Amino acid sequence: MAGRILLLLLISLICSVAFASDHSPLQDFCVADLDSPVLVNGFVCKDPKLVKAEDFHISGLHLRRNTSNPFGSFANRITVNRVPGLNTLGISVARADFAPLGINPPHYHPRASEILTVLEGTLIAGFVTSNPENRLIMKVLNKGDLFVFPAGLIHFQKNIGPGYAYSISALSSQDPGVVTIANAVFGSKPDISSDILAKAFQD
Ligand SMILES: *[C@@H]1O[C@H](CO)[C@@H](O)[C@H](O)[C@H]1NC(C)=O
Repeated sequence: MAGRILLLLLISLICSVAFASDHSPLQDFCVADLDSPVLVNGFVCKDPKLVKAEDFHISGLHLRRNTSNPFGSFANRITVNRVPGLNTLGISVARADFAPLGINPPHYHPRASEILTVLEGTLIAGFVTSNPENRLIMKVLNKGDLFVFPAGLIHFQKNIGPGYAYSISALSSQDPGVVTIANAVFGSKPDISSDILAKAFQD
């Protein structure tokens, strides 16, 4: 009896872990039919006979994007919505550009771990572990350096070099999602009432 309960617990634990990330593909590919009215987890597959190279391709990742905004950064996210061939594969990519002193503000990806490589400039990057430790793990990254942000943890980057910086990240979901902490907590629609926020953010 106790053994069975333990087994059930183990199974539910394994299931909950599996459902926290993208499912494994059951065929070579399932190129997303982005226009299908059928709602499934991800996208339904386009007819494999109609699949073409363009479904697996995008260009322009060499281009610097406009960072003239209050954060001084821009994230060019290449998800399944832009490359339909990513559907069911559990991966995507993003390029981040940083003006001097630009930041990618604290955020997390509900569905993906991230592995970031600095290709130009110097960033400081960090993530915070979950409760109760909430330990900040942070590192200065120079050109060619790589850093990992575990799934679901709040993380950020800042350009601390004298010039422009950029990075390329790989993420373990076709659609990692982004929750920017300040927007979610202080900019929800409708607002989280101020008495709740006041109580939550007092020390
Ligand atoms: C960058 O964005 C800013 C603010 O939206 C705009 O004023 C500026 O013209 C843009 N620069 C380029 C090169 O597109």
